[in-house]
Amino acid sequence: MRTLLLSCVRSYKAFHRLQHSPCCFPLPAVTRKRFTVLRCMSTHVCKEDTSYYITTPIFYVNASPHLGHLYSAAIADCLHRYKLLKGFNSKFATGTDEHGLKIQQAAEAAGKDPLQFCTDVSLRFKHLFSSCNISYTDYIRTTELRHREAVEHFWSVLWNKGLIYKGSYEGWYSTQDESFLTPSQVGDAFDSSGKEIKVSLESGHKVDWMMEENYMFRLSAFQSQLLDWLRGNPRAIQPERFYHAVLQWLQSDLPDLSVSRQRNRLQWGIPVPGDLEQTIYVWLDALVNYLTVAGYPETHDKWWSVAHHVVGKDILKFHAIYWPSFLLGAGLPLPKTIYVHSHWTVRGKKMSKSLGNVVDPIECSQMFTTDGMRYFLLRQGVPDADCDYTDDKVRKLLNAELADSLGGLLNRCTAPALNPGQAYPSFCSQSFPRDQGGRAVAEDYHMLDAVKNLPSVVEEHYESMHVYKALEAIIACVRQTNGFVQRHKPWNLDRGKSKDQQWLETVIHVTLECLRIYGTLLQPVVPEISNKLLSRIGVQPGERSWGNTDFLPKFQGKDCPFEGRALGSDFGVLFSRLESPNADKQKPKPTKKAARSK
Ligand code: MSP
Repeated sequence: MRTLLLSCVRSYKAFHRLQHSPCCFPLPAVTRKRFTVLRCMSTHVCKEDTSYYITTPIFYVNASPHLGHLYSAAIADCLHRYKLLKGFNSKFATGTDEHGLKIQQAAEAAGKDPLQFCTDVSLRFKHLFSSCNISYTDYIRTTELRHREAVEHFWSVLWNKGLIYKGSYEGWYSTQDESFLTPSQVGDAFDSSGKEIKVSLESGHKVDWMMEENYMFRLSAFQSQLLDWLRGNPRAIQPERFYHAVLQWLQSDLPDLSVSRQRNRLQWGIPVPGDLEQTIYVWLDALVNYLTVAGYPETHDKWWSVAHHVVGKDILKFHAIYWPSFLLGAGLPLPKTIYVHSHWTVRGKKMSKSLGNVVDPIECSQMFTTDGMRYFLLRQGVPDADCDYTDDKVRKLLNAELADSLGGLLNRCTAPALNPGQAYPSFCSQSFPRDQGGRAVAEDYHMLDAVKNLPSVVEEHYESMHVYKALEAIIACVRQTNGFVQRHKPWNLDRGKSKDQQWLETVIHVTLECLRIYGTLLQPVVPEISNKLLSRIGVQPGERSWGNTDFLPKFQGKDCPFEGRALGSDFGVLFSRLESPNADKQKPKPTKKAARSK
């Protein structure tokens, strides 16, 4: 409550500064309405809003999807599924970015009509997402009519507020990044034929000098409001490293931004309303997709006030500077969080068509399974730093954690040899009493503590997009549970003796309870594996939400709804070990002599 009050006070102060700032434009009605809501919040205990809206960047259709694209989508999908488990009404948008010079040139090079070209590649993204269980609720293409209408409306709002003016731009432009650059962001390089060229220092992409009449947005007017927003919302950009990077950028002057291109240069885009000689800048067009999906301009309020974006580090400037400025200008709330992730490299190099090292996510998920790939990307991907991809790393990680640790544990307590009744057996509180004195040892009690706390640990990590930390915590508990089984060797217990039988059942009951928690918490990352695991141990679909993560109720003297239940009938392995393609080659070959003597 204190945090809520503080944030309301901060918002009020920011609002006040905004309203009285000399460089400020008149506040639109929407902002005034928002202020009223904030004021109510500071005096009433408010009901928690359970709506949530998460987005991926929309993907350029100039080339086929690669591993990095699947990574952005998998992070957002994980957050969406996690919110659903928490009982939120979650909206999840993804889609394709289809306008701009880069796409125009790619369609020309392919000799295709641009819309047909976009449709073909957009379908490839859709196919990737459906085959990798990316459970979006809306797929947007910027060539759709609903989007064009939203962009035109947004443009008109900015225009009517005097935030866009006719001017001219002279400077560097990178078509690959669709980005304008200042001279200090440009360096010298050589192209493949040895010709001297200028490149963007950040992306390495070629830049060209351009001189054009176009429309400019008064970005410079928003510098102090952006700083206020960030200082008042230190968790608006996560991880922290990127938050500081944006604050740093905001220490230098913000030049006004060109927001259109001459139509004779760029035809593939939305024309500027009222000026058919100009096409709207692709980034302004693209960013508005988040509003289009929210229902802008008519019905966006509900979703727009709970928007969160997942973006790669290369597009942070567009999301953390341009986008909030456009939104402030249009009088709309700013996104709640911008989650930033780093990139995947291959043998230390950026993935690129020219290097021929682009990793195809469809091929990978065929080789390692969809859940295998999702697990690898989210377990190994660290948002703060770039990660390197190799097939071998995938195999080793999945074999160790999914096949051996998790799969082995499930197998141990469901195998007919150890669990002939194929049921969730009883827990005996004399064998495992709350206070020591039964057959459990100190390490077992430590394990129970760790698993009991696991949902809140995982929740904290999911909330801050540190999915790898959530998975690290889960797998550490899986190891502890394997240790528990190993320590007590239930297979050596004598079923003929009732005490041994009770203890055996207790060991299995505790292990199944651990697995139930792991399976539930893993659903956002590996939905198919979790489903298989939970079904095998008899947990029904309605018993798999965050509210069902009360661990080992019998230990706390409560009833356990699972006790005595029949296990599911699917005996299949949870995750099959992956063989290295060179496994056969690596085996010593028989010598000719040995072969002859056979
Ligand atoms: N179209 C823009 C986004 C507009 S959003 C209003 C764009 N598209 S993109 O296709 O180039 O990139 C989409 C996402 O993929 C970005 O978040 C980008 O960071 C991410 N990735 C591209 N290459 C990547 C890796 N090698 N590794 C991880 N993610 C990477 O930018």
